[in-house]
Amino acid sequence: MAGGDPERGRQVALAQGCGACHVIPGVRGAVSWAGPPLTEWARRGYLAGHLPNSPENLVAWLRNPQAISPGSAMPNLGLTEAEARDTAAYLFTLGAERLPPVPAGLPLGPNQAGPREEPRIRPRA
Ligand code: HEC
Repeated sequence: MAGGDPERGRQVALAQGCGACHVIPGVRGAVSWAGPPLTEWARRGYLAGHLPNSPENLVAWLRNPQAISPGSAMPNLGLTEAEARDTAAYLFTLGAERLPPVPAGLPLGPNQAGPREEPRIRPRA
């Protein structure tokens, strides 16, 4: 992602306590299920259920969630523009290596991810 440093973003996520509410791979202690898990972020089509999941929209969300979803339980953590860009850059590394190749002629989601694998959820034996 242009203009953000993923390693600094990982440190921001740690320092800001995002892990108090989110599962975030690579961030120590980020194992809470209070909010949605941020695993495989690069593969998400939507942010907060209604915005296309673009880097710019993620930066806007991180700077002021309430402006996008009034009444959201995600607090405004007062991130600077630079901190938000770095954090967004880190989140967009998650799952990026698993973006499937895009078959020609298919309608694409905003993150160009193309079709998803079926989730591998099986009943317990
Ligand atoms: C007090 C708990 C809390 C903290 C702390 C928190 N969040 Fe959230 N976050 C939430 C909740 C709850 C939602 C779902 C809100 C919604 O969709 O309105 C959310 C949503 C999100 C989303 C969108 C998820 C999706 O599936 O669309 C992202 C990305 C996110 N948070 C990143 C962060 C980052 C990065 C931090 C740290 C800078 C952070 N959050 C700190 C509670 C929190």
